[in-house]
Amino acid sequence: SRTTESNKTTEDTKFVCQRATPLKHHNSKFTDALEILERHAVQITRIEEAAKLSSVGSHSKKVIQDILENGSSTEVQGIISSDFFKSMEIFSSIYGCGPATARKWYEKGYRSMADVIQAVSDGMKLTEQQAMGLKCYSDLVQPVPREEAINIKDIVVKELNTVQPNCTVELVGGYRRGKPSGHDVDILITHQDDDIVEGLLAKLVARLEKLGHMLHKDLMVGRNPHFENKNSYLKGVKGIADGNKRQGGHMDSLDHCFCMFQVGTTSESERLETTQASPESDKTGSCTDTCPGGSGGSAVRRVDLIVTPPKQFTFALLGWTGSKQFNRSLRDYAWKILKIKLSNHGMWDHNHVPPRQIEASSEQEIFDELKLEYREPQDRNA
Ligand code: CTP
Ligand code: MN
Ligand code: MN
Ligand code: MN
Repeated sequence: SRTTESNKTTEDTKFVCQRATPLKHHNSKFTDALEILERHAVQITRIEEAAKLSSVGSHSKKVIQDILENGSSTEVQGIISSDFFKSMEIFSSIYGCGPATARKWYEKGYRSMADVIQAVSDGMKLTEQQAMGLKCYSDLVQPVPREEAINIKDIVVKELNTVQPNCTVELVGGYRRGKPSGHDVDILITHQDDDIVEGLLAKLVARLEKLGHMLHKDLMVGRNPHFENKNSYLKGVKGIADGNKRQGGHMDSLDHCFCMFQVGTTSESERLETTQASPESDKTGSCTDTCPGGSGGSAVRRVDLIVTPPKQFTFALLGWTGSKQFNRSLRDYAWKILKIKLSNHGMWDHNHVPPRQIEASSEQEIFDELKLEYREPQDRNA
């Protein structure tokens, strides 16, 4: 049986981070099916029962066997065609609506978007996020083409430069992995000076708000363990470990702003309106009459802005590049094989008491430290 000694890893390829996973990898038939299974498990599981998620693993073998023998999994096909799954997928596609709310709506008897809209007009309360998610729904379900993501990044670079010169800005998420489009635009920001990083996001957000780009925002700053106590790595380790438990291993405590962003300013949309014969003629396109952006403006997009201290940047870059599945595998591997805790904030070697922080100034160095062959972002599409 396998132990956690690092020298046993050479012939072991059970972790997906040990292989190259390009955009179209040959396993997608299986991984797509397993993803459905996992999403369904998340949906049927109440938040308090999250521990039961581990039972998904025992299902996987059966599903793979089924696909191998019959070309598809009857269980997964059954899930996809079920009323419950269909409704949950529709509701979960609304920004701000997680599995708990989706399930609540299903249990109330709602099955479609129309049911939810009816319930809202009958007085059902929505959170601020859900209200925005519903208002801008037709925009937000449209994929964001790479060119537009780059344009949004360029706007952020330009405005950031007016509040703070010499920042580093990276387009991360799926685009960095080579995807031609994505569901949102993830932008990672840092500056070489710790003191400048503190408060940087608030300044940027204020600037973007002033220019009318920011239609809605969830701003979270000041929880980064790095700022809590600059001398205590241990406090950081504990905070990060707690964070992992709370958010299923994907949440970090970096300053972030999850927002609804519109490129077109009011003056631009007014100009567009006057050149169009009838602004009323296109009500089905983007969010025209319902979205606060108003008619004629460009589509509302989900943008994630993340700010990291310089020492955490490389780890945040790796984490925010993903894929989610790649990260999961990498962290699982690092912990089980090497006893190294890896997060978006850094990595800690738990073979020492107290755990010893390992620094890195490039992704290559992190892979080296983890005794893994380096993978370019486009080969991290697990
Ligand atoms: N991520 C993270 N911490 C978060 C949120 C996301 O580390 N709090 C990671 C995710 O695991 C993912 C990457 O950041 O690897 C980008 O997240 P997301 O935008 O959800 O996914 P993408 O891979 O960019 O896919 P999409 O094109 O659908 O946006
Ligand atoms: Mn993304
Ligand atoms: Mn996503
Ligand atoms: Mn994102």
